[in-house]
Amino acid sequence: MRILFLGDIVVQSGVSAVCACTPMLQKQYQPDITIANGENAADGKGMTKELYNRLKAAGIDLITLGNHAFSKRAFLFDTDDCMDIIWPANIGTYAPSRPVLIRLVNGKRLAVLNILGNVFMNADYEDPILVTKQILRHISADVILIDFHAEATSEKSIYFQYFKDRVTAIIGTHTHVQTADEKVENGCAFITDAGMCGPYDSVLGRDRNEAMDHAITGCSHYLPSDNASLICGLVIDIDDHTNRAVSIQRIQLRPGPND
Ligand SMILES: [Fe+2]
Ligand SMILES: [Fe+2]
Repeated sequence: MRILFLGDIVVQSGVSAVCACTPMLQKQYQPDITIANGENAADGKGMTKELYNRLKAAGIDLITLGNHAFSKRAFLFDTDDCMDIIWPANIGTYAPSRPVLIRLVNGKRLAVLNILGNVFMNADYEDPILVTKQILRHISADVILIDFHAEATSEKSIYFQYFKDRVTAIIGTHTHVQTADEKVENGCAFITDAGMCGPYDSVLGRDRNEAMDHAITGCSHYLPSDNASLICGLVIDIDDHTNRAVSIQRIQLRPGPND
C-alpha cells in the first residue's frame, strides 16, 4: 500500500494549490489513498463543507483536522455530509463521535486516527497516550496511520517511541514547518512534522506584516496571506505481506518566481 499524505492545508492559497497539485502528485507517485490535514483551510482556522467538497473533488480521500477543528461552528452540523473527515479523538465531548475512520484499501483495513498533543498547546486535551491506547484496544485494522497534531518535538518523539510497535505510521502535523527527520523504525514510519500546504512567503500561512504588527503591538486580527503556496507532504510505502512501513519520502514543492 502506498499512502500520499499532505500537511496542514492553510488558507485559500493552500486549498487552491492542493486542488491544482493533487492530480499531478497522484500521477507521479501512484498512491492507493491520499490523506490531507485540513485544519487551517478555512481562513486559517477550521474547515467548511464547501472546502471539504472542493478538496474531495480534487482527489483527497480523507481529511484529518487539529486544534482548530471547532473554529467554524457550522461545520459541526455538516458532519453527516462529510463522512471522510477524521476528528481529533481527544478534543473533547463536543466532537462528532468518530474517533477513528476505517477504509478498505487494496483489500486491507486502513485505520486513520487524529490525536492532539498537549505540550505548549492552548488547551488541555485528554491525555493523547491514554486515548490512543483505548482506541487501539477496540479497533481491528491491518494498517494504522496516526496524524499526531502537536507542537513539541519531544512530545511527538515520545509518542512515536510509545506506539511504534503497534501502528504503521505516525505523522506529525501542526507546526507548518516540514522537518527533515523522517525515518522508519520497527516497521513504523515517522516524521516530526509533515509541513504545510500554504503560502510560502508568510508567517506559517499568516500575512507576514500583520504577524509582525501583532508581535510588536499586541493587536491581533489574523490576516491570511494570499501569496502562492508551497506543497509539503510524504509518500509512505507499506509492505503488503507484513503490513509494516518500509519507507517514507518527503515531498516539498515551492512556488516558482512567477507564481
Ligand atoms: Fe494546529
Ligand atoms: Fe495547522
